[in-house]
Amino acid sequence: MKRILVTGGAGFIGSNFVQYILKEKQDIELLVNLDLLTYAGNLENLLPVQDDKRYVFAHGDIRDRAFVNELFDKYDFDTVVHFAAESHVDRSIVEPELFLTTNIIGTQTLLDAAKSHWKLDPDNKYSREYAEGVKYLQVSTDEVYGALGKEGMFTETTPISPNSPYSASKASADMVVRAYHVTYGMPVNITRCSNNYGPYQFPEKLIPLMLHNAKEDKSLPVYGDGMQIRDWLHVHDHCAAIRTVLEKGVVGEVYNIGGNNERANIEIVSLILDVLGKPTSLIKHVQDRPGHDRRYAIDNTKITTQLGWAPEYTFKRGMQETIEWYLENTQWVEHVISGDYLDYYAKMYSEG
Ligand code: NAD
Ligand code: DAU
Repeated sequence: MKRILVTGGAGFIGSNFVQYILKEKQDIELLVNLDLLTYAGNLENLLPVQDDKRYVFAHGDIRDRAFVNELFDKYDFDTVVHFAAESHVDRSIVEPELFLTTNIIGTQTLLDAAKSHWKLDPDNKYSREYAEGVKYLQVSTDEVYGALGKEGMFTETTPISPNSPYSASKASADMVVRAYHVTYGMPVNITRCSNNYGPYQFPEKLIPLMLHNAKEDKSLPVYGDGMQIRDWLHVHDHCAAIRTVLEKGVVGEVYNIGGNNERANIEIVSLILDVLGKPTSLIKHVQDRPGHDRRYAIDNTKITTQLGWAPEYTFKRGMQETIEWYLENTQWVEHVISGDYLDYYAKMYSEG
């Protein structure tokens, strides 16, 4: 892992990862961040690394074959960490095609560039002699498994059963990655993480949205009864898990990532109100998300026992630091929610 291509490094998890990996691994020679800077991408997230000589920003689209090939030719990557995606479930319900092209075709474009640059031979099919010292890591999501009832957890062998256009696009991308591994010998890992929280998360997602609204004394739009369950992990722990999989993951394997931290949405919203000293009367139950997955829970046995990763953050510490970060970085919030986001918010929540 010396010459890394990170895609989507201006987004929430990608920017946390770029900061994390450049700090933790001084032996990295070069890290190129390829990002289209959609509404979700923000170069302010990368201010702490912008003067790092190893860091290069490349403004472009993962679906642009010529551009992606040029980057491979110019920088000779040995590692790809693919975060770039359309990531918000609610937006995927309104605009599914964008999710399919970005998340599926974008993934295939990267795989093709890596395949050609790493000279992977289709005759590898049965030889299992994978390219030495190179790896492609697909950052996927627990949502590809669909929804759980009251019992059980997602393991790596849980059947793929996505319910939203977003999760269907991520599941499809995973299948393409798998196929390139089996057919062309692409040395891949797929990681499937649960819900992340932490600094630099765009305020369309539950925690920063509720924090922002509570701070402004605006109503907190809880979908349906608010008893849907998510399994929350601090973004730092996700970044550390990805590094672990890059360094120790067995080629071709899928690894679930999660910290055994299930919470109902209403519990999170109440916690935010409590910490900010705001009344529960701000909670407003609004129309439920169509196809809303009721519960996610990750079984992390494989990554903890086989690769030795474990989360460092407790939820208490993670939420405390996250709330402090958003309260201290109001300018960041104001910048990202200006413009297009205001139109999105008005359309999305006007009926609520
Ligand atoms: P995000 O929406 O915050 O960031 C996505 C980034 O991708 C943005 O910087 C955006 O500009 C960029 N991008 C979008 N389309 C692009 C394109 N065509 N070409 C180049 N760049 C493009 O997303 P996130 O929450 O940081 O998620 C990152 C990845 O992690 C996604 O693949 C997502 O599916 C996965 N994931 C997210 C979570 C979570 O809780 N947020 C959990 C598990 C997995
Ligand atoms: O599980 C991993 C996934 O987590 C990632 O793959 C996605 O990229 C990421 O967006 C996230 O998806 P969710 O749909 O779980 O996250 P979101 O923050 O949108 O919603 C979390 C829960 O909160 C969900 O049950 C819907 C609910 N919710 C969300 C919003 C934005 C509300 O009740 N009200 C809201 O306004």
